[in-house]
Amino acid sequence: MADMQSLLTEKRVFKPEKEFAKAANWNKKKIAEYRKLGEKNPTRFWAQMAKEHVSWFSPWKKALDWKPPVAKWFVGAKTNVSYNCLDRHIEGENAWRRNKAAIIWEGEPGDSRVITYGQLHREVCQFANVLKSHGVKKSDRVVLYMPMVPEAAIAMLACTRIGATHSIVFGGFSSEALRDRIADAGAKMVVTADGGYRKGQAFGLKAHVDEALKGGRHPVERVLVVKRTGQKVKMKKGRDIWYHEEMLGASTHCPPAKLDAEHPLFILYTSGTTGKPKGILHTTGGYLTHVTTTTRAIFDLKEDDVYWCTADVGWITGHSYVVYGPLSCGATTVMYEGVPVHPGPDRWWELIAKWGVTIFYTAPTAIRTFIRLGDEHPERHDLSSLRLLGTVGEPINPEAWMWYHNVIGKKKCPIVDTWWQTETGGIMISALPGGVNTKPGSATLPFPGIHATVLDEDGQEVKPREGGLLAVRHPWPGMLRGIWGDKKRYRETYWGKWKNTYFPGDGAHRDRQGYFWIMGRIDDVMNISGHRIGTMEVESALVSHPDVAEAAVVGRPDEITGTAIVAFVTPTGKAKAGASFQGALKKHVTNEIGAIARPADIRFTTALPKTRSGKIMRRLLRNIASGEEPTGDTSTLEDFNVIATLKEGDE
Ligand code: PRX
Repeated sequence: MADMQSLLTEKRVFKPEKEFAKAANWNKKKIAEYRKLGEKNPTRFWAQMAKEHVSWFSPWKKALDWKPPVAKWFVGAKTNVSYNCLDRHIEGENAWRRNKAAIIWEGEPGDSRVITYGQLHREVCQFANVLKSHGVKKSDRVVLYMPMVPEAAIAMLACTRIGATHSIVFGGFSSEALRDRIADAGAKMVVTADGGYRKGQAFGLKAHVDEALKGGRHPVERVLVVKRTGQKVKMKKGRDIWYHEEMLGASTHCPPAKLDAEHPLFILYTSGTTGKPKGILHTTGGYLTHVTTTTRAIFDLKEDDVYWCTADVGWITGHSYVVYGPLSCGATTVMYEGVPVHPGPDRWWELIAKWGVTIFYTAPTAIRTFIRLGDEHPERHDLSSLRLLGTVGEPINPEAWMWYHNVIGKKKCPIVDTWWQTETGGIMISALPGGVNTKPGSATLPFPGIHATVLDEDGQEVKPREGGLLAVRHPWPGMLRGIWGDKKRYRETYWGKWKNTYFPGDGAHRDRQGYFWIMGRIDDVMNISGHRIGTMEVESALVSHPDVAEAAVVGRPDEITGTAIVAFVTPTGKAKAGASFQGALKKHVTNEIGAIARPADIRFTTALPKTRSGKIMRRLLRNIASGEEPTGDTSTLEDFNVIATLKEGDE
């Protein structure tokens, strides 16, 4: 949770620069007009956006069919995402864009590729034909487990071209996590690479796929492998094939499938409050309308912009604002393969100068890391091309916001702090840089057509400056359409708290001007460096270790990553609390889920503090975890029973 106090006392206001506001895609007048329409008639507002920003093969019969909690947008209309991201930019009066850079890609070792719209179109068509030749049909699921290389975007677009539903598993997830997601999605094919580069090392991906498919009880028929690092990989005969070999003979002709607006576009797994991640389902027409409109308006995209969103395609930000949003707008999008600080702490700033990046979108964790590394690194590079900055993924503390504004934006770039989620598909609350004043730490106001508010448990709106729960009252086009294979969980998780109102799971308050200040998750989901990890997920990973009897996981505030994972573990009789067991458990969690879920701290206890009814006293554990750093050897057994008894009345 963000520091409520500092957010409540923040008073600074920044007005849009005159020059910027004058040239903005959405100026004050337009914003006011859209807000009015969006408030009165959100369906009509979004229908207007759908007409303006998306190309359709045939029109809808009804803009919104809302039978809570099931929403259908643009019912009966036909479109295709890859058509919107590619073909429409190279046909007719837009034909000149054929040679415009669609993707500027930079590999971590320093190799780079510039792919034009014409080339991207060709490669996507070829890959779509490769998918077809291996039996992938409309509605089949394809899992992508990729490094940040252009082929990741090509594979996504190729799936959308033929109506296959992709499910990207972040390359940092373990083979265990990959296996579960492949099984849950029922994927027919996996697209992967031999590996990728990170921190100067080649890491393996194909080997994880082999591990995930071991034992043979899985739906996967083919594994397509992109050669990135050249490391040695095993290719299983009849199952595994090289991407570059398949592409050689593939035809560049592949007409886009005319898909229903509600056709499943992708599934993306995200953590919830149980041990099992949720497969968030997004569909075609509404999602495309939402991400295209918000990209154009919030990032103020112009024809000559060089836009860089630093997210990995394995997360929702990578889907919506690295690939689909910018390409649908016909923009130039930058993709970078590696970590921000390799080979030096100024790699990102070097890239901004090298490619003349004009719009830069990243996460508060990265900003805080750079603050700590020192101003001399950005100051060594020419960042004068920048004109707009964005942030996403977690609450940004005013201090980090000010540093971003001063040191990176040189006080001239507006900052858009964008609140949204995997489930919302696109940005929901954000400044519009041409006409909304900003305040450090506030995501400002809902996007037109988004009916966000702050409610109490009973569904009553709270007063200004009073804490409450973020809520959305009207469906929006990029809204999740369900949890893959689990209707009940969809209804209960998002629509169970209030009547016909979406519950995102975040705490928030509004100030007297109606500005939103997001305080962070209020459920058992942690936000680690802007990535969601469920406490239960880490707990189930820990208890799957044979020497763990019981485990409880909580988050504690961390200066850089926002939250750090702390695990309290009761070992079985024979296991010894100690540093080597701590190390083994951290490794175990990394193997079960991935490095992002690795606990920062593991503390051993003879028993977990519980209430009389057997509930783990999480608040107490959170207090203990975020209290003074324990001195001395924390690897020995702690006895919380006494404190538990003392605090029992609290829970
Ligand atoms: O708690 C909110 C936080 O990130 C959560 C969504 O995580 P995920 O689905 O992984 O998507 C992250 C990228 C969109 C939210 O419930 N969050 C996201 N953006 C912000 C934020 N918290 C505060 N301010 C933001 N701008």
